[in-house]
Order: sequence, then C-alpha cells, then structure tokens
Amino acid sequence: MVSNGNNHVRASSSGCEENTSHTSIIFGIKDKVGALAVALKPFETNGVTLNHIESRPSKRAEGTYEFLMTTDHEVGDNELKAALEELSLNTAYVQVLSRGESSLESVPWFPRKKQDLDEFAHRILSYGSELDADHPGFKDEAYTKRRKVFADIAYKYRHGTPIPRVEYTAEEVGTWSTIFNSLSTLFKTHACAEFNYIFPLLVANCGYKPDNIPQLQDVSDFLKSCTGFTIRPVAGLLSSRDFLAGLAFRVFHSTQYIRHSSLPLYTPEPDVCHELIGHVPLLCDPTFARFSQEIGIASLGAPDEWIEKLATLYWFTIEFGLCKQGGQLKAFGAGLLSSFGELQYALSDKPLIKEFDPEVTSVTKYPITEYQPTYFCTQSFEEAQEKLKQFATKIPKPFTLHYDAFTESVDLLETKEQLTQLAGTIKSQISTLHAAMELLCISEYHSINTGIMQA
Ligand SMILES: [Fe+2]
Repeated sequence: MVSNGNNHVRASSSGCEENTSHTSIIFGIKDKVGALAVALKPFETNGVTLNHIESRPSKRAEGTYEFLMTTDHEVGDNELKAALEELSLNTAYVQVLSRGESSLESVPWFPRKKQDLDEFAHRILSYGSELDADHPGFKDEAYTKRRKVFADIAYKYRHGTPIPRVEYTAEEVGTWSTIFNSLSTLFKTHACAEFNYIFPLLVANCGYKPDNIPQLQDVSDFLKSCTGFTIRPVAGLLSSRDFLAGLAFRVFHSTQYIRHSSLPLYTPEPDVCHELIGHVPLLCDPTFARFSQEIGIASLGAPDEWIEKLATLYWFTIEFGLCKQGGQLKAFGAGLLSSFGELQYALSDKPLIKEFDPEVTSVTKYPITEYQPTYFCTQSFEEAQEKLKQFATKIPKPFTLHYDAFTESVDLLETKEQLTQLAGTIKSQISTLHAAMELLCISEYHSINTGIMQA
C-alpha cells in the first residue's frame, strides 16, 4: 500500500505550473453571472488556448472582477488579435503584456500582507468536500458529510480569528491512534535529530498522544512560540503558487479532516495526520522554518515555470527530504515521516539517493501515487537553505522582497529610504550580536582560567 499522495504541492496538468506562456492578458468584467463565459468565448472561437486563469477584485473599476490569463500565442498572432478585439467589446478594460516586460504589472499577483492569504480560502484545486471516485471515502455518505463540516470551517476561516475546535469521533480517533502508534515505533531510528528533539515537546504541550487528535489552534499557538509559524485551516489542495505564498508569511495551510478509516495507513491527499505528525515538528525548528520561508519568499511574483521548479524543490525537501546525521541517512520530509511504509523504504537500499542540488533537483520528475524512485539528501538545513538562496537569485523578478516580521508583510525594496532603514535594522542586530559574542567570550575566558587555576 502506498501512501505518498499526501503532499501539499504537486504539479497540476491543467494548472499554471506547467505553462510556458508568452503573453499575459488582464481584463475586467462586471461581477454578474455568466459574464466570464461571455468574455472567454472569443478565445474558443478563434482557437486561442489559455494556459492559466486567475481572478481578483479589480482596483481599477468598482464592482468589477479582474482576470489574468496567459497563453502561448504571441502578441502579434492573428488569432489572438481577433480574440482580443472581441474581448474588448464585453469587458471594462483589457491590457496585454508580453513575457519579459519588467514592470510590476506583468508579475503574477501575490499577497503582500498575512491577511491577504484570506484570498486563497476558496481556491481549492481538488478534494475539499468533493471526493474523487477512487477516494476510499467516496461511497461513504457519513464520511462525505463529515468532510463538508471541515471544508466549511476552512472556507469561513479569516486571518486573526481562532481556528474552530473540532470534537473528533471515536472512529476518527481510532484512525489517528493506528497511525500514531505505528509511526512512533520508527521515529527513533528513522527520523532526523531535530524531529526527535521536538516530538516529545509536542506530546508534552499540544496533546500529541495515541487517544487524542490535537487541535489545530493549540498546535498553531505552540508553533508560533517556537518559530513564528502559524496554521491556517484549508479545505483541500491549493495550487503550488498559493501554498508556497503562505510559507513566505510563515503560514502553514493545514487540513483538519482525517483520512477514511478503512485504510488508516493510506491517504491520497494530505490529512490532519500528515500535517501534525509529518509537518509540524520540523516547522518548530528555527533553521528548518527559515528554509521553508525562503522557498515561500522565492515564489512571490515568480513566473509560472519557476513556481514549478520551487514546487519540485519543496517536494524533494519538505515532503520527501533526507539528511545525513552521524554518517547515517535520516528522514526529515513530512511525506516520509507520516507514512509507515515509505519511511522504511526510503532508508532501505532500494531507492536511488542523490545529493541535493537545486539545479538538478528542481527539474527532476517524480511520481505522486507510488514510492519515490529517487530521494535527495542534504548535509544540513543550513546547507539546503544556502543552496536554495543562491538558486533563487536566478528567478527573474523586477524587484527585491524583504519580509518584515513586525508587520507580517513583504516590502518591495524600491527606494533609498527603504534600503537605509533596512541597513539600520541590520546594524542594530549586528551590534546586539557583537555584544552577546563579547559577553560569551569573556565568560568562556573566565571558565577556562578557573579550570587552569583549579588544575
Ligand atoms: Fe505535505
């Protein structure tokens, strides 16, 4: 039985992650039923294939929704020209941007503040309360009904409000218990040291135990006290772009429902076991949290093909990453740490283990419904972060972003004043670091001297 469909980020065959478009089109339409279908018709009749479409409330005209679409067609193509002419008849405005324009207008929308993540609540790619025919719970009416309860919580959730507490049923706790007990037997030998350090703290502080499914709000509070990460409930799978954007703000989108009880050691999608057992422990680790946020920040405003690369890096690290500790391979990926079967397989001699190299890793293809044939190994989270940072400098963006932890927002560093202010903050931090190092050196000097005197 395989269990690695339980990731958060995966390429979508119809989604934005796979397009290599040349032209972006922005248009605004009045918010009324059927308006989008009318606006899209010219593309169909003129044979213009669209690769990606996303929407947001328009800031240019009140009561209007703005759509961003991308296509492989060049600006000068006759088919595209004809489609755009017809489009302009039924829309408030149309703007065309060819790939390579370096204005902010040509950059995909991205959240600037933590509360902007509210925009994602309804943008679920799959699952939520609508299950596929091959989902273990598809024919179970009670399970489907239960999933709707969890989906509603996620849809209604807004930034700054507490995550509603859930009373899990005995059947749900039983499923958790099976998973918790089986995985616990492997952690000592298979999980990385950071995971094994934090897991007992979650047991002591957040109600991690065989007969209790921890509440997301309790876990979020604990996580915040460790690394500033918080949890947001999500109804199902988000697009790679949206999910990675959350990480930029140290927000982890987490499901709250549990997998179907008929197959406790298998799930085709992320569930509360995968999130709480697989992801949360390492998000409590400061270095790993920084690494996760780096991927998120790199994704903001990145072109689609780079989102696909970053999602692949996420897959091979945060979901299925391995590291070397004390000369032995250990798991730190959440997809491994929440899968009894794959955790053992990954550390056996069966799969191919390669050194983590963003250039290679980011373009490696992977299966999503079976165990991975290849895993990537990093020496440390610091090393992975450094490599990722270097890699991210190649992402074409017409701006530099800085995350402000006080305001929980990202700033575009565009003016001399902003740079001066940032330099001032860094100077103040370096002075604190310098003072602390001096103090440490003095106390170490004293303890060495005391040792010599006693000898
Ligand atoms: Fe995941």
